[in-house]
Amino acid sequence: MRTPFVVGNWKLHKTVSEALTLVTELKNQLAAIKGVAVAVAPPFTALTSVAKRLEDSAIGVAGQNCHWESKGAFTGEVSAPLLADAGCTWCIVGHSERRTLFGDSSAAVGKKASAVLAAGLGVIVCIGETEAERDAGRTFAVLDEQLAGSLPALAGSEQDFARLVVAYEPVWAIGTGRTASTAQAQEAHAHVRKRLTERFGGAGAGAIRIQYGGSVKPSNAESLMAEPDIDGALVGGASLEAADFVAIVKAARPK
Ligand code: 13P
Repeated sequence: MRTPFVVGNWKLHKTVSEALTLVTELKNQLAAIKGVAVAVAPPFTALTSVAKRLEDSAIGVAGQNCHWESKGAFTGEVSAPLLADAGCTWCIVGHSERRTLFGDSSAAVGKKASAVLAAGLGVIVCIGETEAERDAGRTFAVLDEQLAGSLPALAGSEQDFARLVVAYEPVWAIGTGRTASTAQAQEAHAHVRKRLTERFGGAGAGAIRIQYGGSVKPSNAESLMAEPDIDGALVGGASLEAADFVAIVKAARPK
């Protein structure tokens, strides 16, 4: 079965020293917790220091974005091989903030996702509808469009499926304090699982983890994680405080 996976997306927060304080607390407080995979996604500038601090821990390190090319004249970009070199084992691609603020199209996200896998990292592909799209009854259509373009090319081995994670993050729930209801989230996750089954077959789709993201907090994590197709969380704001993040990880433990 799928090991739940909880990732803290720190976005544009934390200096190197603040990052080290937080991961040292996480390392101590999560050491004894079994049955949940955990990773943090600090800003680029803190990746190397955080990865070093976590060397002897089970907590993984993720980039928040990368370019699809591995090297070249791409001022301001960071590639998946460079993330691996900095100590990352994961990279997030296609976050809604990237899609809306920085113009990442699904086609670009798909290229990034393939580059991440090719560099030997796991990839977290984010998808999700806006409030206007939900109100217009277009949620599934938007998820379908995003999935069609954003998923990586996969060789189809068992390891491949374990290295592909889809994060369903309804845009209207990100940073707003409004979480999708457990029913809304489960409905979207089941739809994503159906599409993954069509694309990769039942065994593949059964191994791919689907995280929920959008105002996940200690108070709502337990009920979200109890849904059959919710395999963990991509946590923004609540991942910046050790106590909140640890509580969310604990809520994701298999029952
Ligand atoms: P919040 O948890 O702050 O709503 O952010 C969710 C998110 O965007 C994680 O990637």
